[in-house]
Amino acid sequence: MKKIIIGNLKMNLLSPSEREQYLKTFSKELVGKKLANAEIVLCPPAIHLENFEKVLRKKVSFGGQNCFWEEKGSYTGEISPLMLKNFGCEYVIIGHSERRKYFEENDQSINQKILASLKSGLSPIICVGETKEERRSGETMRVITRQVKEAFLGVTAGKLEKIVVAYEPIWSVGSDSIPTANETMEAKVLIQKILSQSFPKKYVEKMRIIYGGSVSMKTVKLACVDSGMEGALIGRESLVPREFIKIASLMG
Ligand code: PGA
Repeated sequence: MKKIIIGNLKMNLLSPSEREQYLKTFSKELVGKKLANAEIVLCPPAIHLENFEKVLRKKVSFGGQNCFWEEKGSYTGEISPLMLKNFGCEYVIIGHSERRKYFEENDQSINQKILASLKSGLSPIICVGETKEERRSGETMRVITRQVKEAFLGVTAGKLEKIVVAYEPIWSVGSDSIPTANETMEAKVLIQKILSQSFPKKYVEKMRIIYGGSVSMKTVKLACVDSGMEGALIGRESLVPREFIKIASLMG
């Protein structure tokens, strides 16, 4: 199975010139890199998608950072999965902890977004993970179980291979702490176990489960390789093309 390395650029690249600089550096860093066993996905702010597409098409894939569940209409400020698809995206991040925290996304709205994105032919990258408090009180497994079960309600087995689940412990995102390789592996096994209760195993095995949270050249071995993950969801380091591509080369 090919590894998937996803860059979540979040609300960065504030002007056309910053964007052009980023794209220039990214293209330069890609030259001569063999990434036979890794797929790179960039998720820029939606306003930049078309420009990213023009410059990096065929070299990397693209994703949205969020979407709405309706296809079109009077939903001021929202972007539909179909719009993302029509503007060159194959993926969309859904349920990122920052969306759960600042935009009151919950398991139910996340499920609606997942179903809508699948309907439009996108691959959802579903984020799950526990807060620091939940970890402290020994609730990690319970939280992941709830999030995964709710996320997959109404999903059919045949769609599983399109879905990516990112285990992102919230306390690790934007910090410099990561779980042990064993803890991450346990989360992966748990996710597979939960899904195996609802879907035939052969479909569950086709799904990529990745890790996100403070992934860098320093942490990638422990966080993603030793823990047996199929990829990484990367925030800060995706803003530094050289580091991001180094991480992808190491994994791929
Ligand atoms: P980070 O972010 O790599 O900066 O910790 C990860 C994420 O938010 O997906």
